Amino acid sequence: MSEAIITTDRSSIDLDNCYNELTGVLDRRIFSDEAVYQEELKRIFGRAWNFICHESQIPESGNFFTNFIGEDEVIAVRDRTGAVNVLLNSCPHRGNTVCRAELGTTRSFFCSYHGWNFDLDGSLLAVPNEDAFYRNDLDKRQWGLVAARVETYKGFVFATLDPDAPKLFEYLGWVGRLGIDMMLVDGDIRFLDGVHKNRLKCNWKFAVDNLFDWYHVKVSHGSAFKVGLVTEDAMAPNDQMVILGEYGHGIGGPGLTHERQAEFDQRHAAGEGDPKWYDLHASHRTDPAIREMLGPIGFRSFGHPNIFPNLWVTHTRQMCLRIPRGPFETEIWWFNYVPADLPEAQSQQTIFRQNHIFGPAGFLEQDDGENWSHSTRGAKGTQSKMRPLNFTMGLGRDKVSNDPSGQSAIETVVNEHGQRWTYQSWKEWMQADTWEALMANHSKPPEGNV
Ligand code: FES
Ligand SMILES: [Fe+2]
Repeated sequence: MSEAIITTDRSSIDLDNCYNELTGVLDRRIFSDEAVYQEELKRIFGRAWNFICHESQIPESGNFFTNFIGEDEVIAVRDRTGAVNVLLNSCPHRGNTVCRAELGTTRSFFCSYHGWNFDLDGSLLAVPNEDAFYRNDLDKRQWGLVAARVETYKGFVFATLDPDAPKLFEYLGWVGRLGIDMMLVDGDIRFLDGVHKNRLKCNWKFAVDNLFDWYHVKVSHGSAFKVGLVTEDAMAPNDQMVILGEYGHGIGGPGLTHERQAEFDQRHAAGEGDPKWYDLHASHRTDPAIREMLGPIGFRSFGHPNIFPNLWVTHTRQMCLRIPRGPFETEIWWFNYVPADLPEAQSQQTIFRQNHIFGPAGFLEQDDGENWSHSTRGAKGTQSKMRPLNFTMGLGRDKVSNDPSGQSAIETVVNEHGQRWTYQSWKEWMQADTWEALMANHSKPPEGNV
C-alpha cells in the first residue's frame, strides 16, 4: 500500500508497520505526529458515523444542538417536517459559524458576518441586497449549508460526511448496537440538559485506549480504593469479558461467567439480595426482555463499550465523547441521561452522583487525565517517541468463545485485547483510501486463539 506511508519532518511512519498485531508492539509516534493527526481527521472522523446527540435533546421543530465531527463544527437541528438535519456550521460565504450557541431554538440560522440566512434544512433562504449587489446572479440553491448524512439508532443520532459509508445499522454491527442497548436496560431514556466539557492535554487515542483498561484502576485510582469508593469486587479482575466488533467497536470489562450468572439467578429467584457491584447492576438483567435485547453473551457483560472511534458508554448513566483538538489535546464531553419517566428529584440525585464520578470534578477522571497527558508528552520527546509501546498483555493466551446466537466473547482475566483491537482497526481505517476499500479489507473480529 504505497499511500500508507506518512512522511513527517523527521521521519516516515509506515502505517503498514506502525502496529504489529502479532507482537502487540505499537509505534508511539501515532500519538504525536501532525501528519497522522490530519489523516485521522479525514480517514476516521470524516468517514465514520459520529455520535451527534440524542433525539430527546432536540424534541421540537427548531431545537438545535451543536457538536463536532473531528474538528468540523456541526449543528443538529429538527426541521419543520420533524426530521433531524446535521449541517456544517460554516457559512459558504466567508466560512463564519452561523450558530454560536451550544443549544437552543431558532427559526433559521442567520450569519452574523454579512447576514446570509439559512433554513433549518440548511438551504439558503435570503441574502442581504441580493438584487442590488449580486445583480440577481446568485444561485441560492447552490449555496446552502453542507448537510451530512443522518441516521438514528433507538434515538441516538449519528452523522457521517462520507456518502459511501454503509448504513448506520450495519456500521454499528451487533457490538456497537449492544453498546447502545446497554443504556436502554431501564427502558426509554432522556438526556439531561448540560454537557460537561473540558480539555485535557492528551491525544484522543489514549483516552479511548483507557476505557478498555482494567489494569490501571488499582494504581491510578488508588485513592478511590483507599477510601472505599472503588473495590476489588467492582473491578472483577478475574472475571473479564471482551467483545470485539467490526470496524473497531469493542466492549471490555467485568463480565459474569455462566457459573456466576447461574448463582445470581438462583439468589434472585430466592429473593436474596447481594451488595456486590455486579449483582446490583445485574438486577436489571433478570428481565427476559432485557436478556433478549442484549443477547446470551451481551447480558452477562458489564464492560465499557466504545463505539468506534470515540464514544464511550459507561455504566453510570453517562456517555462520553472524546473530540480531537490536535494531536496533543482532546475535548471531553460528558452527557448524562436518566430513564425517561424519572421524577425530577431523582434526576437531580443522578446528576449529583454523576458529577462526582467522571467529568472535570469527578474522582476518577482527574487521575486518568494526568496519566493520558503524560503519556502524550512521552510520545513527543525526540528520543522517547522513537521507542515503541507494549500492548502484549494476554496476547496469544486466550480464546474466543462463540454462542449459537452469533455473539462471541473472550472470557479471561485483565488483558489488553480491547486495546489491541482498537489499534488494529485504527490502522485499517488509516490504510484504506475509501469506504469501499475499508469494507473489503478490514479484519473481522478474531476467532479461536487470540
Ligand atoms: S460569512 Fe456568512 S454571510 Fe458572509
Ligand atoms: Fe481510570
